Amino acid sequence: MQKGKEKRRTKIYYFTGTGNSLAAARRIGESLGECEHIPIASIKEAEGKIEPGVERVGIVCPVYDAGVPLMIRDFAGRIDLSSAEYCFAVVTMAGMGASALHVLDKTLRDNCGRGLDSGFAVRMPGNFPPLSKPPQGEKRDKILREADVKLDEIAGKIGEGRKDYPAFAPVSSLLKILTYGKFIKGVRSYDSEFIVKDNCISCHVCSDVCPTGNIKLTGGWPKWNHNCELCFACLHFCPVEAIQWGKRTEGRGRYRHPDIRILDMKVQKGDNERAGSELIQDTT
Ligand SMILES: Cc1cc2nc3c(=O)[nH]c(=O)nc-3n(C[C@H](O)[C@H](O)[C@H](O)COP(=O)(O)O)c2cc1C
Repeated sequence: MQKGKEKRRTKIYYFTGTGNSLAAARRIGESLGECEHIPIASIKEAEGKIEPGVERVGIVCPVYDAGVPLMIRDFAGRIDLSSAEYCFAVVTMAGMGASALHVLDKTLRDNCGRGLDSGFAVRMPGNFPPLSKPPQGEKRDKILREADVKLDEIAGKIGEGRKDYPAFAPVSSLLKILTYGKFIKGVRSYDSEFIVKDNCISCHVCSDVCPTGNIKLTGGWPKWNHNCELCFACLHFCPVEAIQWGKRTEGRGRYRHPDIRILDMKVQKGDNERAGSELIQDTT
């Protein structure tokens, strides 16, 4: 253990595909102070139970198909929260997400007999272009401003140790019943739908940002290896929009959180070196 780590009071475990959840985790962490952010993708291979060793533990991730990403569900099945005093989760979503908190809570309870004290769902820009165009311009900025206000309120509640857990949400729960099981079963291989167009510049951004290390370039061409979370980081971060998911993402626009960079995405999977691609594309 690194010197000083044991002094921190809060650990926030996060997963992100396009930056919303990382930006949310950071904002909450800044407000709470003394907070360590741990990317779940960087510890997914670690053996045995995950023991946070702090009083307050948070999980921040996106909503996928009215549940949580497969990597998060697996993580919730491995973390030991038995000695934590306060546990919270924040899910970021395009519109509907309370059932994702219920999935997380149940998985935690089944695993370690202790669930969430608080759970919050925050609306942020959508990143699922097969379904709808991600918001752009002022519409996007307004959603982000409102999310910041909500995140500050949430951080206040967490700081006070409030118990605030979402009630049963019928529509979200129905959507979960209809779609989530199928999503989890198929998600690893949904990457067979990805297509690379001729305008690909072999810049490696797609493989740099992929949280599971699922993309390898062969002959300069990205290849997906069926270990996908369907986070769409590859598609959204591609600087020339060469990546499509079937025919449903063409002309649909792209989204990434304005504060999150390629390097942040590399750090997520435990790779702290500046990527060549990042130096070229993303030096703001
Ligand atoms: C595969 C997939 C499924 C999604 N399902 C939902 C959903 O059921 N409900 C919802 O409100 N948003 C859904 N979204 C949108 C994301 O939850 C939302 O944009 C989130 O803030 C993205 O967070 P990130 O930038 O940290 O990856 C989905 C996105 C993806 C990629």
